[in-house]
Amino acid sequence: MWTLGIESSCDETAAALIDPEGVLRASEVFSQDTLHARFGGVVPELASREHLVKVEEIVASAFERAEITPAQLGGVAVTHGPGLIGSLLVGVCFAKALAYAHQLPLIGVNHLEGHLLAPFVEGEPPTFPLVGLLVSGGHTSIYLARTWGDYESLGSTLDDAAGEAFDKVAKLMGLGYPGGALIDALAKQGNPDAIPFPRGLDRKGNFDFSFSGLKTAVLTWMKKHHLEGAQPDVAASFQRAVVDILVKKTLAAAAHHKVSHVVVSGGVAANSELRLRFEAACRARKLRLSLPSRRLCTDNAAMIAYAGRWRLLAGQTHDMNLTTDARLRLR
Ligand code: KG4
Ligand code: ZN
Repeated sequence: MWTLGIESSCDETAAALIDPEGVLRASEVFSQDTLHARFGGVVPELASREHLVKVEEIVASAFERAEITPAQLGGVAVTHGPGLIGSLLVGVCFAKALAYAHQLPLIGVNHLEGHLLAPFVEGEPPTFPLVGLLVSGGHTSIYLARTWGDYESLGSTLDDAAGEAFDKVAKLMGLGYPGGALIDALAKQGNPDAIPFPRGLDRKGNFDFSFSGLKTAVLTWMKKHHLEGAQPDVAASFQRAVVDILVKKTLAAAAHHKVSHVVVSGGVAANSELRLRFEAACRARKLRLSLPSRRLCTDNAAMIAYAGRWRLLAGQTHDMNLTTDARLRLR
């Protein structure tokens, strides 16, 4: 029984196939980065139109790569929220049509569960219970995952998501979009201790985050000083501030809930310093750490196929009434 996953919640059109043994056999991702770059952020209307143009081709290339046909599918999993409503609708309508035509079960997947389970897709799978930090362009939350489908949010950002902060600071610095990978690269040449940017909500026992103050601090610094020549130091110091708080709160949450397994996922989990710091911190505290490969950190359909597969095996499927929910929560 093969599972097809379809993802179109933001600006990536993606399709993936997982084989009957649970092995990922195709993961196609078309990124709209260049389309949105000149606007400095995702333009929702353009995103949904581009999904509409690409979805059929991307799904077809996943089938080609895995060398199977839709007749071999056991179910169709699709992201139905959270995300941009027009973009979500493209994936959900396409998945419904495919499921209907081939008389297959349909599984609506929460994009956030997809990210959380991304480290399960390849390599040694994590074990429950675990504490998961989900850091992306739209979300920054810490979850306690007791078992499959049993997730409790321990804290979230009160304002900007970490990825959003990376993107906004990159824009302030005139680096381009999306900013995360650009700051990551620039920071390698800078001194992370050069500028003491604030660590938001740095209080014990609180697992919420705040990144808007940090973004403002970068802007204030830039108004007072010359950015020219200091770009690498600003990037490195900003990145250090973000990573410090992410590592500190995630490990505190693991300690508080006496959990020995930590998972970090979402687009920002592709960040080089974040990966190194989590590896060192977890090693020092004898915690097991699972980090997905970089291609599984940013939006992809492999994680959606994976999350859909366990729900399909558990009999948790939807019918043609599956709706999209731009603000779907994970609990
Ligand atoms: O998970 P994702 O692809 O989409 C959402 O669901 O939001 O995450 C995209 C975010 C963007 O904000 C991007 O700047 C950030 O992940 N990102 C990074 C890196 N690569 C992507 N942030 C920091 N360092 C990176 N290397
Ligand atoms: Zn995402």
